[in-house]
Amino acid sequence: MLSGQKIVLGVTGSIAAYKSCELLRLLTKKGAVCSVIMTESAQRFVTPLTFKALGAKEVITSDWNDPEHTIPHIDATRDAALFLVAPATANILAKAAQGIADDVMSAAILARRCPVAFAPAMNINMWQNQATQRNVKQLMQDGAIILGPAAGEQACGDMGSGRMLEPTEIIELLEGAFSPRVLDRCRVLITAGPTFEPIDPVRGITNLSSGKQGFAIAKACALAGAEVTLVAGRTHLKTPAGVRRIDVTTAYEMYRAVMNEVSRHEVFISVAAVADWRIANPATHKIKKGYTSDTPELIFEENPDILASVASLENAPYCVGFAAETDNLIDNARAKVYRKRVPLIVANLVQDALGQDSNTVVFVERDQATPLARASKEQIAQALVAKIAQEVN
Ligand code: CTP
Repeated sequence: MLSGQKIVLGVTGSIAAYKSCELLRLLTKKGAVCSVIMTESAQRFVTPLTFKALGAKEVITSDWNDPEHTIPHIDATRDAALFLVAPATANILAKAAQGIADDVMSAAILARRCPVAFAPAMNINMWQNQATQRNVKQLMQDGAIILGPAAGEQACGDMGSGRMLEPTEIIELLEGAFSPRVLDRCRVLITAGPTFEPIDPVRGITNLSSGKQGFAIAKACALAGAEVTLVAGRTHLKTPAGVRRIDVTTAYEMYRAVMNEVSRHEVFISVAAVADWRIANPATHKIKKGYTSDTPELIFEENPDILASVASLENAPYCVGFAAETDNLIDNARAKVYRKRVPLIVANLVQDALGQDSNTVVFVERDQATPLARASKEQIAQALVAKIAQEVN
């Protein structure tokens, strides 16, 4: 989504300027074409050379003595898709709110025609000061995007609001701003990750699903404008921005959570690796070795098939399943299309996917199978969002 976008990164004089180096690196990695403008005080924290070395096309530091530009503050944002000021000090917010143009940064903000976003970074008292709050309100009224700030420990030792958002958080928000909203306001319910069936209070049966694909789909749906509910098995993955998350442990808990939620949703994407069986007789105390001479015996009972249960509802949402197979990929996946009565199964080989950041998948429908080139789980999520948008719109 950021690929090929021309972004101007404005760096002002805050200790958070060191985070802009990482921000620039991530933007460049995502394919954005970045130039940088630095204020004089920003250059006391980091140098223009740092940004150059990290891939900035150019670094503008002054309106004077710049042989490459006739009028740097005008040239800087020509054809830009976004002017992102990160970190944005209280000073630059005040200047931008008032239209002051007394250095290359503030003049470039005033001269731009593209949208502008500010990621504030300052001490909590400066952030909470009425003047700053008034300036932020004014900037928002003028159409500026304000990203953050976050709360937490500050460089000065104080605690509270004013920290610049982390570069990864800023990137996530920007991706949202650049995404086509092909699922605008569509309500999407997703399951992701592994389930865990207890044997006793300390042991259980689970699987190797990382949850990465399901979380990537939740993120892609949210970026496409959908209202996303994510029912997640045990995983340490971070909830994507704007996604409502319900944590569950067992397959039965996942089933109950999904059935509770499903009537409010138009799309259901079942990505979770759900245990087909649970232990019928989990022990309430830890099973001790040598307590009896017998080897413990586990009795299994079948879990409900969540996807098939949703697909058979009277007002079923558009359902997408996943099939992880070790062989006969297309045949096995197509059998699931019929058995679970779903229009689309995303099929992949276990050996291609589990725990990895990329995957090779095939979209299997009743009458066709469309293979996708090997791609990152994020790209697969985007391709799936495009496919779902086509089907439901
Ligand atoms: N699924 C589900 N509930 C279950 C089992 C599976 O919702 N109890 C969903 C998965 O989330 C996935 C699809 O069904 O979208 C296929 O899962 P998979 O484990 O590949 O298929 P199974 O139905 O379990 O069949 P098998 O184990 O025989 O391959």
